[in-house]
Amino acid sequence: MLSRIIGIVSGKGGVGKTITAINLGIALQELGEQVTVVDADMTVSNLGVQLGTFSFDVSLQDVVSGKEHILNSIHHHPMGLTIIPSSLSVDDVYTGLKPNSKKLRKDLKKLKGIVLVDCPPGLTDDALSVMEAVDDVIVVTNPDMPSVTDAIKVIKISRDLKKNVLGIVVNRVQGTNYELRPAEIEIMCEAPIISKIPEDKIIKRSIFEEMPVVKYSPYSKPSIEFRRLAHYLTNRAFQEPRNLFFKRLLEKLRGF
Ligand SMILES: Nc1ncnc2c1ncn2[C@@H]1O[C@H](COP(=O)(O)OP(=O)(O)OP(=O)(O)O)[C@@H](O)[C@H]1O
Ligand SMILES: [Mg+2]
Repeated sequence: MLSRIIGIVSGKGGVGKTITAINLGIALQELGEQVTVVDADMTVSNLGVQLGTFSFDVSLQDVVSGKEHILNSIHHHPMGLTIIPSSLSVDDVYTGLKPNSKKLRKDLKKLKGIVLVDCPPGLTDDALSVMEAVDDVIVVTNPDMPSVTDAIKVIKISRDLKKNVLGIVVNRVQGTNYELRPAEIEIMCEAPIISKIPEDKIIKRSIFEEMPVVKYSPYSKPSIEFRRLAHYLTNRAFQEPRNLFFKRLLEKLRGF
């Protein structure tokens, strides 16, 4: 069911692609999968920022420009995640470097295991070039009209590009009566929801602490949902940890 190169995409920006790429990556790794998370947002990259790593000798820009072999751009984050970061330098934005989808795909294919590509948002030329380089897509949205209408577009374009749409991750779910319901999102997008991640301030705290939430607060609701998604994508049965209520209570008592 799962191909190797998976794009984490969205129409609207800021909906939770990077959070999903990082935490799904770690959850897959915990299952024994070999995973690389690639920051393909070359203009406003923030994968490294969310992981608290800012300075890289080699970045995706060096690979895209042909200066470096992709294997030289791999970084091992202390949390155990293997990443390919994008440069944070404004100078690199000024060069106007554009990803070439054929070359990018060829490069990504040199990586072993599952490759999660944190894509640029929207339907710009850059976003489409990156999308062309992947096999499958996971579409991230929030349960509101602006994000879902943009998700509809990105799903249509992914399908036009013959990409396999694995499904939708609805992030920042609060269950209020002024947000779109899961069934409504599935009907509008004509794609299944494969994960619902709740709105939770633990996400912001984990970013502040520069740690992925699945590591920072492993029993929090978002962490459990990222693990459930990793099991689903790799056809494994998921069982919630036992005594979850007490484990969450313990995490809270410890100050998370
Ligand atoms: N489930 C959540 N609960 C609370 N806050 C969240 C949640 N998910 C995301 N956020 C907040 O939204 C911000 C944006 O998330 P993220 O960086 O993953 O979005 P993105 O889609 O990658 O954005 P961009 O399109 O700019 O790359 C986070 O920094 C965090 O503050
Ligand atoms: Mg992002």
